Amino acid sequence: MKFDTPATTNPIDQLKVVGKATNRIDGPLKTTGTAPYAYERHDVAPNAAYGCIVGSAVAKGRINAIDQARAKAAPGVIAIVTWENAGKLGKGSLNTAKLLGGPNVEHYHQAIALVVAETFEQARAAAALVKVDYAPGDGAFDLAKAKESTDRKTDDRNSTVGDFSTAFANAEVKLDETYTTPDQSHSMMEPFATTAAWDDGKLTIWTSNQMIAWNTRDLAATLDMPKEKVHVMSPYIGGGFGAKLFLRADAVLAALGARMARRPVKVAMQRPMMANNATHRPATIQRIRLGATKQGKLTAIAHESWSGNLVGGKPENAVQQTQLLYAGENRLTGTRLAMLDLPEGNAMRAPGEAPGLMALEIAIDELAEKLGMDPIALRVLNDTQVDPAKPERKFSQRRLIDCMRIGAEKFGWSQRSAKPANRREGRWWIGTGMAAAFRNNIVIKSGARVRLDGQGRITVETDMTDIGTGSYTIIAQTAAEMMGVPLERVSVKLGDSAFPVSSGSGGQFGGNSSTAGVYAACVKLREAIAQRAGLDAASASFSDGMVQAGGRSVPLSQVAANAPIEAEDFIEFGELSKTYQQSTFGAHFIEVAVDAWTAEVRVRRMLAVCASGRILNPQTARSQVIGGMTMGVGAALMEKLVVDKRLGYFVNHDLAGYEVPVHADIPHQEVIFLDETDPVSSPMKAKGVGELGICGVGAAVANAVYNATGVRVRDYPVTLDKLL
Ligand code: MOS
Repeated sequence: MKFDTPATTNPIDQLKVVGKATNRIDGPLKTTGTAPYAYERHDVAPNAAYGCIVGSAVAKGRINAIDQARAKAAPGVIAIVTWENAGKLGKGSLNTAKLLGGPNVEHYHQAIALVVAETFEQARAAAALVKVDYAPGDGAFDLAKAKESTDRKTDDRNSTVGDFSTAFANAEVKLDETYTTPDQSHSMMEPFATTAAWDDGKLTIWTSNQMIAWNTRDLAATLDMPKEKVHVMSPYIGGGFGAKLFLRADAVLAALGARMARRPVKVAMQRPMMANNATHRPATIQRIRLGATKQGKLTAIAHESWSGNLVGGKPENAVQQTQLLYAGENRLTGTRLAMLDLPEGNAMRAPGEAPGLMALEIAIDELAEKLGMDPIALRVLNDTQVDPAKPERKFSQRRLIDCMRIGAEKFGWSQRSAKPANRREGRWWIGTGMAAAFRNNIVIKSGARVRLDGQGRITVETDMTDIGTGSYTIIAQTAAEMMGVPLERVSVKLGDSAFPVSSGSGGQFGGNSSTAGVYAACVKLREAIAQRAGLDAASASFSDGMVQAGGRSVPLSQVAANAPIEAEDFIEFGELSKTYQQSTFGAHFIEVAVDAWTAEVRVRRMLAVCASGRILNPQTARSQVIGGMTMGVGAALMEKLVVDKRLGYFVNHDLAGYEVPVHADIPHQEVIFLDETDPVSSPMKAKGVGELGICGVGAAVANAVYNATGVRVRDYPVTLDKLL
């Protein structure tokens, strides 16, 4: 089904099942420990051996030799995979560095060997006996330095509107500040993990991955074999946040290890290796210049962001929101890339906007103060209903002002003291801050197969993944609504490369896109059912387990009594997604308390108001938003991968050293969804919400800390040393 005109009334609008707060149907499996994760597939691979990854101990250089003698002689060892015996390896299209390195080393902890043994403990003990002789080389590990070095920079990627320089020079009120965000680690609960098994030249892997089709394609390319011979399954995933968008070393090494060991092999990446082996959100240095009239109208907006990456990697697009969030006739945005020899920088929850808003929304707060304006009033004054670079291009929906006004009312914003360091409760300085939330809405082609059986049950199959977001549940809700059956009559099967290719999970595109794909398949199934029942397909309606048309009503179980009825289709997004700018909006409000003596920051209240189109399941959507808000507090106050600039690696590479919020750090959180539908986004009229929740939180916290203390920190995370 091609979606190229705005959605009209359709069966989803009944909202009998869709739009209702619904428990996750995979919840009991996950909370009782019975959801089979990739590393736990003892059922399919009872005789599996265990792999332990050896990571490079240097960031850059060459391996002269690997001495495997002691490791090979260690108890239980079955095989040792290195680039020398792995056979011909290609490269997946989405990986900048090789997933099995050697003899050249491209970054610290790049996998250079896999030791396979009878038990994990034996594999780990033997891995420690692998002796590697390195010829270390020089690398660049310091973003601030590399951004100045001419041979380490790539071309600027600029976008301009009007004449920024002149407008900024002539502006009545100006701001020119630089903000920095650190490298961050996804730190999801479930590590990268794979069980791999070969059978007659065919490879089956149970893995933990957000994008099944990408994973299948890249695994086949890496192993230099046809895609048809690779079967990837990833039905349960313990978090991803973008780290699992790509094929990673666990899957490649498990496959190679299993081939060499001639039996199934399991590989779970050791926790201390995750930060340096895999991808991370790259650090940014962001310069923002704002020019405004005395009344607060923005006349000049410039946002430039520097980030680093390996050769072949991309810059963090931290200026994305600045192109669309506020009006202003003269604009300049640009991303700059510095070549670094640190591990690959890539997508982490709301790549672009999350770190970009951490800077932009402090800058707006600073400008409001210079103007003597309320920060919300400044944002309202500079709202735009069109893409500022292409005024003929409207936002499909844009209710940012409503989000801010409703939030202000609910949060008690009017009680706030505009003057910083003005409210004290005992030993605590109290402050409030806010920020706008913005994240683009991406739509992606997505397919599904649906089947009606003789019991009147509906089965949905799609390679969509559920990374903890609730995909199983909203897909079941969609099929139940479309087919007129209760939720309990729907089975959803996900995460299998044998199923139709879906959008996958990423970029907050999965919820809307994958359910729209299920919608398309259900439209076809409805036609097939009506036809089999001898009813007029155009007027047939589906409810209470029956199909009705022309005064006749037939139970679905009866229609499929002799043979199941199956349909498959995909949703494909046409020009509409280009005609309109589609984005999601919100406002975050935060109250903090800062200890007057230690400068410890405690978040006391959080409120988010979100405008994200139709909310398919208010319960799972809320969970996504509060998860994002929690991650935003981590970004604001704690999270930072510390770079060793001499040796080139992230020093704090486990959950003891890389701090993320725990329950005690997070207070009451409230989420309000505006009641809206967006007929331009899909037949579901929904939009993304999973990443909107993190967007803007960091700045809202930093602005609240400023309001509490009068100390403006522009270098994240806002740790107490920067406040004293
Ligand atoms: Mo998201 S960072 O695209 O999984």
